[in-house]
Amino acid sequence: MTSAFLQCIEKGCEGRYPLDSKEHQCPGCGGLLDVQYDFSRLDRHSVFKLWQQRKMNSAIIDQSGVWRFRELLPFVPAGSEVVSLSEGRTPLVEVNRTGDWAGVRLSIKHQGNNPTGSFKDLGMTACITQAAILGSRVTACASTGNTSASMAAYAARAGMKAVVFVPFGKISTAKLAQALEFGAVVIEMGENFDQAFRMLRELTDELGLYLVNSLNPFRLEGQKTIVFEILEQRDWRVPDYLVLPGGNLGNVSAVGKGLLELRQLGLIDKLPRLVVVQAEGASPFYTMIAAGADEIIPVQPRTEASAIRIGNPVNWKKALRALRSTEGLCEAVTDEQIFEAKAALAKDGVGCEPASAASVAGIHKLVRSGKVADGADVVAVLTGHQLKDPEISIKRRSERELAQQRLHVEADIHKLRAALESVMLQSA
Ligand code: F0G
Repeated sequence: MTSAFLQCIEKGCEGRYPLDSKEHQCPGCGGLLDVQYDFSRLDRHSVFKLWQQRKMNSAIIDQSGVWRFRELLPFVPAGSEVVSLSEGRTPLVEVNRTGDWAGVRLSIKHQGNNPTGSFKDLGMTACITQAAILGSRVTACASTGNTSASMAAYAARAGMKAVVFVPFGKISTAKLAQALEFGAVVIEMGENFDQAFRMLRELTDELGLYLVNSLNPFRLEGQKTIVFEILEQRDWRVPDYLVLPGGNLGNVSAVGKGLLELRQLGLIDKLPRLVVVQAEGASPFYTMIAAGADEIIPVQPRTEASAIRIGNPVNWKKALRALRSTEGLCEAVTDEQIFEAKAALAKDGVGCEPASAASVAGIHKLVRSGKVADGADVVAVLTGHQLKDPEISIKRRSERELAQQRLHVEADIHKLRAALESVMLQSA
């Protein structure tokens, strides 16, 4: 096995710690930690073939879109089992109508097609595996919804107890239902994610809880594999841009790390430019970058895109590193723009939760402002499933749309015929 260790990302510190250290931040300086590897013994010529061959095997570790690439996340000691629900393996789909609307050649990588309905499953398989290696019994997270459902599922699979902190009354029913069904204890508290997260962090060490928020570097190890899948699905042709929504900024950090590792290993020779898109009412990272500042100023987050309603993103330094090393861009979009993008995707038969559509809204805006060239080759990550917030999809339809689409008809054959005839006229 390749040797793996934890390393502080702060320049001038770069402290190294063993993998079984339970710290999620550098004990020396408080900086964020990465999982790093010595890849010198990796046989880079054989991995592409190996990854392809594994698709033919039925073992869950070979079917998983995370563990199929295990040479690039070699932190699991020989003899330890991974905790997997066969996550990943999500489709990369061309969306031509949405692409025309945005002004680019667009494909979407739909992470809603994961076991619990979001990209979080890629990270959760990795960090619950690490929790099991460490012998943890109780896992915990603060969440805007998706992390809670994902952690609850993987903790159940590993036989661990799960405790979820969510903002009071703000979590989607779908996500609450998932967390409860998987046996988690759900503590509703505070105004927003940031408050719940801050309070949880104060207690995790004292009570020996295993924290699975994206501060946990093992989460990002799982999430980085999304770029391996995307590039493999494109026969290793690198797109011009890779776009993601940003909340706590773990996902863009993970993707940046994955890309840099691929290049460092000579598996790709150029990088796509990463684009991270925030909701305007929760965009402290965008504000920092637009101002050319070097510290983030937390905000009170406001947006209907509940997943990214985060005002104090913990991973902003890693996200900045990802943007700088890929000549990336950051954009902020209004809720209106998010819902326009969601409507555009629906015309391609693609649904997603509002936060996910921020990526497509961001590209649309960047093309309009000339920062992204017309016709560029773009992959947008859709992070979560359409059925997370179904009531928004109904609430957002205009009265006119509803009058045409949601019909109440008496159980009378003549009235039914008349209604159907008017529907047929609509499609004429
Ligand atoms: N999209 C969706 C659907 C999400 O659930 C999240 C984060 C993001 C985007 C943002 O990702 O934080 O890595 O920048 N959801 C978290 C949660 C915070 O608790 O489920 P990020």
